[in-house]
Amino acid sequence: MLTTGSKNLDALLGGGIDKGILTQVYGPFATGKTTLAMQIGLLNEGKVAYIDTEGGFSPERLAKMVESRDMDPNSTLQKFLIFEAFDFKEQKKTISSLKKIVNGKFSMIVVDSITNHYRIEEKKSSMTTDLGKQLQILLWLARKYNLAVIVTNQVYFDSKQNTLKPLAEHIMGYKCKDILRLEKLRPGLRIAVLERHRFRPEGGIVHFKITDKGIEDIEKIKSSQTTLE
Ligand SMILES: Nc1ncnc2c1ncn2[C@@H]1O[C@H](COP(=O)(O)OP(=O)(O)O)[C@@H](O)[C@H]1O
Ligand SMILES: [Mg+2]
Repeated sequence: MLTTGSKNLDALLGGGIDKGILTQVYGPFATGKTTLAMQIGLLNEGKVAYIDTEGGFSPERLAKMVESRDMDPNSTLQKFLIFEAFDFKEQKKTISSLKKIVNGKFSMIVVDSITNHYRIEEKKSSMTTDLGKQLQILLWLARKYNLAVIVTNQVYFDSKQNTLKPLAEHIMGYKCKDILRLEKLRPGLRIAVLERHRFRPEGGIVHFKITDKGIEDIEKIKSSQTTLE
């Protein structure tokens, strides 16, 4: 298991992010998906292949996290192998190329987000097939090298059910065994909800905040804690 660096989140996940499977982290923008993925890469042994489709990966942000945690900047920043994918075709090629790049030295693959280019293109049905194939390659890599895979996902508003839903919910839910949803309740207060897990009860909630260090636990919620922190 890979630690998230949050005691509460690790407990919610039954120890941390598991290896050999795909974990989906989804939620609206600025809920902490990228911060969480970077933090997990930072805090665990092994290399990280990070596919950034949104331009959300920030070396400056990572450096700040390293500095606030008194970690060694050289060794930590070198762990990350960053790929950028500006469209779905490039994303497909990059994920496929991981078969030649990833080896036993890697502990994690991140695709952040796997659906950024899914939303805006037209032929949805063939894209769903493609997305399924990409997830299948990631799963194969997860098993072959016993590594963790985090795929982040965005949300859309489903007016019929009057709720926010993950994009490509069916295929994503089919391939990702563990699903974590992030939400922003108010400034300085975010929650992570365990939506599905192989051996933990669903619906568990932990509170967290985003700081210079990254994701940090909030132990107790005071009712007076409304706006500024
Ligand atoms: N040093 C920091 N201290 C506190 N909050 C921060 C810091 N750096 C970034 N943030 C906050 O983190 C949020 C972005 O988180 P991010 O992980 O990029 O979200 P997502 O990937 O879900 O869009 C923003 O609300 C931003 O203000
Ligand atoms: Mg992001």
